[in-house]
Amino acid sequence: MIDLHCHLLPGMDDGPADLAASRDMAEGLYRLGFRQVFATPHLPWATPTVNVRAFRQQGEALIEDLAKLKTGLKIGLAAEHYSDLVPELLQGDDLILFPRRDTFLMEFPHGGFPARLQDLLFMAQVKKRIPVIAHVERYPEVQKDIQVLNLLKERGCYLLVNVSSLAGAWTRAAQSAAKAVLRADLADAVNSDLHHAKQIDLLEEGFGVLRELVGDAKFQQLTQENPAKIAGVEEDGLPGQVDS
Ligand SMILES: [Fe+2]
Repeated sequence: MIDLHCHLLPGMDDGPADLAASRDMAEGLYRLGFRQVFATPHLPWATPTVNVRAFRQQGEALIEDLAKLKTGLKIGLAAEHYSDLVPELLQGDDLILFPRRDTFLMEFPHGGFPARLQDLLFMAQVKKRIPVIAHVERYPEVQKDIQVLNLLKERGCYLLVNVSSLAGAWTRAAQSAAKAVLRADLADAVNSDLHHAKQIDLLEEGFGVLRELVGDAKFQQLTQENPAKIAGVEEDGLPGQVDS
């Protein structure tokens, strides 16, 4: 499986505190069947502005450190871009893209879709960048009516669901929305959004729910084929990235 959204790197955000905690997470992900993981620290985190160059350097150095621990995972760097900052990053061509070079992970404020969402999507389209929207099941608009996601799909966005939401990791409303989105075949891929190794059990439970909900063929599509397409990597390899 390929994970498009995971807080695997230590000390960059609300993920693991140190490399040993990262290793525990990586080993848990490997045990569940992941072979490629994109580390996606929040961007920005704890500051209103961001130094993209420093973020990239720090991320790549940490990935090298993790590779030395031989966890079996191929790890690439991406980022969970906060939507408020995306216009500025689009303008400066500073997004941390997936290897495909046109897709990027983006989250909305917890309170809901940004007020100027249409402007943001239009701007991304003009710049030939494709948003990959994180944990769509968490947003109140989606919990109210999943059909609102068609608006994002029509604009070319890819939609992600957190597997652990299926096991109730967030809220009951998010759990129901996650199931509804998957049943309606509106999600393009699922991911871990793992922050700590202690969440592995819930993730495993979520995978059980997912398999029951969508069946084996769709499970494969959501965890491997589509993530490979969205990230622009081979299903069994990650060209140009550190291979542990
Ligand atoms: Fe996240």
